[in-house]
Amino acid sequence: MSKDPTAPPQLLRGMKDILPLDQPYWWWLFDTLRRLATDFSFERIETPILESTSLFTRSVGETTDIVQKEMYSFPDKNGESVALRPEGTTGVVRAYIEHGMLNQPQPVKLWYFGPFFRHDRPQSGRYRQFWQFGFEVFGAPQPVMECQLILMARALFSTLGLETSLQLNSLGDPTVREQYIKAFQAWFKTRKSELSEDQRLQLQRNPLRLLDSHDPHLHTLLDGAPQILDYLDEPSKQHFAAVVEYLDELDIPFVLNPRLVRGLDYYRRTVWEFWPTDDESGQASLGGGGRYDTLVEELGGRPTPAVGFAGGVDRLLLKLKERQIQPPRAEPPQLYVAQLGEPARKKMLRLFEDLRRAGLRVAESMTKDGLKQQLEVAGKLGAHYTLIIGQKELMDDTVLIRDMENGMQEVVAYGKAVVEMEKRLAKAKANGTKPMPGLVKPERFDPRQVADSTDESTADDA
Ligand code: HAM
Repeated sequence: MSKDPTAPPQLLRGMKDILPLDQPYWWWLFDTLRRLATDFSFERIETPILESTSLFTRSVGETTDIVQKEMYSFPDKNGESVALRPEGTTGVVRAYIEHGMLNQPQPVKLWYFGPFFRHDRPQSGRYRQFWQFGFEVFGAPQPVMECQLILMARALFSTLGLETSLQLNSLGDPTVREQYIKAFQAWFKTRKSELSEDQRLQLQRNPLRLLDSHDPHLHTLLDGAPQILDYLDEPSKQHFAAVVEYLDELDIPFVLNPRLVRGLDYYRRTVWEFWPTDDESGQASLGGGGRYDTLVEELGGRPTPAVGFAGGVDRLLLKLKERQIQPPRAEPPQLYVAQLGEPARKKMLRLFEDLRRAGLRVAESMTKDGLKQQLEVAGKLGAHYTLIIGQKELMDDTVLIRDMENGMQEVVAYGKAVVEMEKRLAKAKANGTKPMPGLVKPERFDPRQVADSTDESTADDA
């Protein structure tokens, strides 16, 4: 259908804007993740959004839904098939190999935060462009690594105030899975009539995905199906037992879920997901991970065991809003600068910059002229002092300092304003009355809170 070229532009289906009002949630999540990453010795990596299509086909798996149905894949200008990354592990593995990170002290622990793309049917919590954060660990075959990743995710959820249930399974090694798939398909021999056309096809192509189907009939039918945990070979069994032991040791509750198979082929042994406690099917899974001990080698690197986890940012934030959990409030500015008229504005522009460079949290609304409106903004923002330059201050080369708590005003020389404010704020901090300058990183202060509408008022209302 051809679109009306004069119609207002619209978002593509499944995409969304992240508007200013949502940013405090994003900063909160990002700051929490960054702190966790530092605490657990992860270093940040960001890989390109666009990679060669064959990279994902090789790692995620040719027969998976992600590759078969959901990947945005197209020829670029040179005719090379490229894809918008549908997930993050693959790009990080490519980078690990390409940059010779095997030669660094192992384990190499990397984390990322960015947009990913899957052309799925959009619905609440499912987008075509969505955001993930992920943690990947290379060179650590020990089961303790799974537990550390699980511990980190739990620490994140608990900081955010979200309750989740940990779903855990082991998929064994490829030989285990092959044997299990045979048994699983054989079990269906006498039950094929109960499957839909699509499900029968899936039984041939990607049988394990039937296990996490959301079809209630299939769900009941599968109650009697063979379970992969019964097919584990000895090393996989021991590895899984060790993971469970660590979890028990840490008192981390989990649900042993033999139907948890994940939608990516690279997993070996342990897999897990975090579901919101009110989600019984995993449709709103907040994150998932697992071991992928053979992927580095399969993509051309030297054999390197690896394990990782990724969380869905959009879903986490939806959950926070659904539960009415608010991000912590940004600390208010310490100072607000106000000016009356054009010459004062010029002077104030410089003072604002001097105060900011001194590390003080300053807010302004330079497009406003009326003092009343500016003081209102200062009050709304919760600034402790407002520094004013009006006609008189302009002539005297001074600044008027107004204490916003008690309305007291005092005049200081323009050239001494920065030092004076530093002194006052330090004194207030020592007395425990007003916060110390520079406690908050600039990104946490949200200048959008300053209304910036055109203002008719003049210096008269000073
Ligand atoms: P995944 O389970 O496919 O795993 O994705 C991880 C999380 O991303 C999901 O639990 C979900 O919260 C979010 N997510 C996935 N698709 C969408 C979507 N269409 N809309 C919104 N959110 C979505 C992976 O991608 C693996 N790379 C995880 C991993 C890392 N395994 C080892 N290391």
